[in-house]
Amino acid sequence: MPQRRLIPITCSDILFEYKLSGKGIYLARYARIIGWGKYLPQKVLTNQELERLVNTSDAWIMSRTGIRERRIAADDETASSMAVHAARAALKVAGLEPHCLDLVIAATCTPELIFPACAALIQNSLGAKNAAAFDINAACSGFIYALATACQFIAAGAYNNILVVGSEVYSRILNWKNRNTCVLFGDGAGAVVIQASDAPPGSLSFVLGNDGSRANSIYTPGPCGLNKGPYYITMNGPEVFKFAVNVICLATKQAVKAAGLELSDIELLIPHQANTRILKSAAKAIGLPLEKVFINVDRYGNTSAASIPIALCEAIEEGRLKEHDHLVLVGFGGGLSWAAMVIEWGPRPKKL
Ligand code: ACO
Repeated sequence: MPQRRLIPITCSDILFEYKLSGKGIYLARYARIIGWGKYLPQKVLTNQELERLVNTSDAWIMSRTGIRERRIAADDETASSMAVHAARAALKVAGLEPHCLDLVIAATCTPELIFPACAALIQNSLGAKNAAAFDINAACSGFIYALATACQFIAAGAYNNILVVGSEVYSRILNWKNRNTCVLFGDGAGAVVIQASDAPPGSLSFVLGNDGSRANSIYTPGPCGLNKGPYYITMNGPEVFKFAVNVICLATKQAVKAAGLELSDIELLIPHQANTRILKSAAKAIGLPLEKVFINVDRYGNTSAASIPIALCEAIEEGRLKEHDHLVLVGFGGGLSWAAMVIEWGPRPKKL
């Protein structure tokens, strides 16, 4: 097994408004994405329909966020049930039976139960009887946190086949009378199956970070805390906006450097889909042409931990990734957290 190299990169490499710590970690046993899938609930909620619920307008939502419509889970849908649809699609692409999975990790902050984990319910529904299962909650950065965690199990030689899912039902934690938040979010799920490989393509590097001193910038209280409810999302929009633009830029640059690459080597950036204005400002700050930034927030709104795997799935379906392309996933959200991962895109490993 090749020795793992750790390349620490501090934020003093790049000057930023926020002083953020973070280490770029180089990976030496590779995790290759061999399957992908998504699930979006059928119900579409348009901006015009929101105009009838709160004092807002299609023009305001489009100009401030770029969101045109979002999906809303049916009454009988949950984070785990949506995740199972996405996971089945990913397993089909991977050509893998559920019993071959060693681990299921679910990234969600809207699970139907406090425990057991959403991943435990997904494992059971899939029949992934040989898999361990647990959840990760890093809000909208959760999918990359989960993927980086899965990569560690692969790098350590512990597991070979891992399902990573992001699934959210934010419609259940929104105050539908609060126009500051209810226009921004949507429901959905995305999944990938990753497989161990001793050689690239695969995951090359990642960056994870968090600034807990700003936990109150965006949060949802829960039933085990001091707040008696209702349990609605609360957010300081402009503060999260500034943070997001800075941190997308910082984390992307750190992860690209840790992978031993230049920004010019990156063919596609798949950011957390929160707001088109955030993504355009971040692309400009990074120095990446907008054509290299995948955007689908217009159709789904902010689906939190599900947004990156849904976007990845659509980027693949649209033929935006070729073999050996370098791809950056980058997320930000409650915590305040951030995460980025560089992946060399490639086919299924030949032997395992
Ligand atoms: N319709 C009409 N007017 C509205 C609406 C709405 N839906 N929402 C807010 N406004 C009003 C405000 O009340 C305010 O009015 P006022 O000036 O009379 O007080 C005005 O519009 C401007 O409000 P701002 O908050 O300054 O608007 P801004 O341009 O910052 O856009 C937005 C708001 C879209 C929320 C933006 O700040 C943003 O996208 N922030 C990031 C949010 C985000 O990404 N959150 C997710 C993080 S990830 C996670 O972990 C969940």
